[in-house]
Amino acid sequence: MNRRFVAVIGGAVLALSVAACGGEGAGGGTEESAAPEDLTIGVSMPTQTSERWIADGDSVREQLEELGYGVELQYANNDIPTQSQQVDQMITQGADVLIIAAIDGTALSSQLQAAADADIPVIAYDRLIRDSEHVDFYVSFDNYRVGVAQAEALLTGLGLRTADGQPGDAAGPFTIELFAGSLDDNNAHFFFDGAMDTLQPYIDDGSLVVRSGQTDIEQVAILRWEQETAQRRMEDLLTSSYNDGSRVDGVLSPYDGLSRGIITALQNAGYGAAGNPMAVVTGQDAEIASVKLISDGVQNSTIFKDTRLLAEQAVVAAEAFLGGEEPEANDTETYDNGVKVVPSYLLPVETVYADDIQPILVDSGYFTAEEVAAGQTES
Ligand code: GAL
Repeated sequence: MNRRFVAVIGGAVLALSVAACGGEGAGGGTEESAAPEDLTIGVSMPTQTSERWIADGDSVREQLEELGYGVELQYANNDIPTQSQQVDQMITQGADVLIIAAIDGTALSSQLQAAADADIPVIAYDRLIRDSEHVDFYVSFDNYRVGVAQAEALLTGLGLRTADGQPGDAAGPFTIELFAGSLDDNNAHFFFDGAMDTLQPYIDDGSLVVRSGQTDIEQVAILRWEQETAQRRMEDLLTSSYNDGSRVDGVLSPYDGLSRGIITALQNAGYGAAGNPMAVVTGQDAEIASVKLISDGVQNSTIFKDTRLLAEQAVVAAEAFLGGEEPEANDTETYDNGVKVVPSYLLPVETVYADDIQPILVDSGYFTAEEVAAGQTES
C-alpha cells in the first residue's frame, strides 16, 4: 500500500529499540546511539546490462537514503570475481548490513563467512545465496508461481487455455521450444519447474510438441541470462528443427532479455511479417523495451515483479536486523539453500498482457505512458 509509511514506521521502531535496549543491534559496528546517518548498508547488484537491476539498485538506494542511511551500491558487471571483491570491500569498510543479489548463487561462501565473523547480517536479494549457513534472510517473489504463470500465458496465447483457466478452443498440436535461465541462479530452476509442471500434461497428451526434443533444463539454459546467447540458440533451433517449412508456434522464455533475443531471431527468419504471425513468446520483469513489444503485439506477455516492493522488503528486513530483531518472514519452508532453509519474504507476481499495461504498469506509476510508447525510460 503505502511503502513510505511502512518504511517510516520501520525507522521509528529502530529508533525506539535502539533507545530501549542500549542499541545492541545485530549489525557489526552498531554503536549504542547509532543513528541511520552513522550506519552504512552495502548493496551488491549483479549487472547494469539489464534494466531491471538498475531499477532495483535505484529503489533500494532511494528508500535507504530517505531513512537517512549511508548506502554503498556496487554493480559487478556479471563478473563473479568482481562481485566477490566488492562484497569483501564492503565488509572491510564496515558495512552494517549487506543486501546481495548474487551473480552465481554458489560463489560467495567465503564472503558470507567473513560477514558472519564481523557480525554483519546478510540479506539475499531476489536470488538465493546457496551453500552457506550465513544467509540471514531472503526477499524475493513466488518464483515457482512465476514459472506457472509463464506457462499459463503460453497456453493462453496458443488458445489451449482461456485467460481464466478454462480449456481453450484450440486443440493443437502446437510446436514449442523451451528456454531457461542461468543454471547458477537458483531462480532459474524454480521458474523452469513451475513451467514444466504446467506444460507437461499438454506435452504428454500431444497438444504441445517440443520439436527439438530439448526438454531438460541443462539443454535449454542460457548462461548469465544473456540476450545474445538466447538469440543464437533460437537461430540454431530454427535451422536444426524448423528448416522443413514448419513453424514454431510458441516459445517459453523466462526473462524479457532472453525474449528479445528470441524475438530478434524469429523476426530475422520472417516471423511477424504478413502471413507469418509471430510465435507466442513469454517473458518476465516488465523491462521497458519488452513492455513496448507487448504493447505493439510482438511479445505475448511478461511477468511483472514490482522492484519497488522488493526493495521495500529488503529495507524493512535491514532495519529489523539493525534493531536487533529478526525480520518477519512469510515463508519458512521453500528456500533450502543446501545448508539450511532460509526464512523468506515472498511477494506475489502479476501477468501483464497488452491490456494490462495501463492498469498495472502505468496507473501504478511504474512507467509513464510516454516511456511505454518510446520503449525506454526517461532517466
Ligand atoms: C533472475 C530474476 C529474474 C530475472 C533474471 C535475469 O534471478 O529472478 O527476474 O531478472 O534473474 O536478470
